[in-house]
Amino acid sequence: MSALIAPSILSADFTRLAEQIEIVTQAGADLLHLDVMDGRFVPNITFGPLVVKAIKRVSRIPLDVHLMIEEPDRYLESFAQAGANTISVHVEACPHLHRTVQQIKSLKVKAGVAVNPSTPVSTLEEILQELDYVLIMTVNPGFGGQEFIRAAAAKIVKVKSMIEFRSLKIPIGVDGGVGPDNADDLLGIGADVLIAGNSIFGASDPRAAITKFREAIARSRRRTA
Ligand code: DX5
Ligand code: ZN
Repeated sequence: MSALIAPSILSADFTRLAEQIEIVTQAGADLLHLDVMDGRFVPNITFGPLVVKAIKRVSRIPLDVHLMIEEPDRYLESFAQAGANTISVHVEACPHLHRTVQQIKSLKVKAGVAVNPSTPVSTLEEILQELDYVLIMTVNPGFGGQEFIRAAAAKIVKVKSMIEFRSLKIPIGVDGGVGPDNADDLLGIGADVLIAGNSIFGASDPRAAITKFREAIARSRRRTA
């Protein structure tokens, strides 16, 4: 499968969100990454299902909803109804992760699990076969524009081998500090979804940033062809 680009709207201009979404979509974004934060699981508050629903009305590409909230089970239905195509929950926020994942799938939404930089991917061993998506955090979640944590990216290699060992096909997303400068490396070690906020919406030309990502993806396809 070809790698995908998922701009994170966290760094977008919220006063002109629809326009910014259209710009990145036209430039070749594959998914929109929506960061939901509750001020408890992470030290920041963003938005909830109401905003996801509004974005759904204007977006032509699927919505990848990343829940950085405690007790996500209480809100899964609302986010599914709001139009999420994928919902990712944090392994650190889910004592009954298997149940949470089943609940997401029962809502006909793809189920993802995210792991913080200090959480080992071995926490996914017993749930991997149930997942549609794995999200490797390469910053401590909460804010856009943070520095990429290289040691956390090494987990992409580990989780890739866990997936291949089980003959599964689960895309691996990488979230935090991702930009055209490290895209080649991340694709080279097996990242399938490049999530990027600041390097796209913080750039003077978001279109050009997406083009650079697309070029990195094309290079990686040529390398593996
Ligand atoms: C971090 C969020 C990320 C964030 C990435 O808490 O989960 O999705 O928006 O932003 P950048 O690309 O700016 O690190
Ligand atoms: Zn995110």
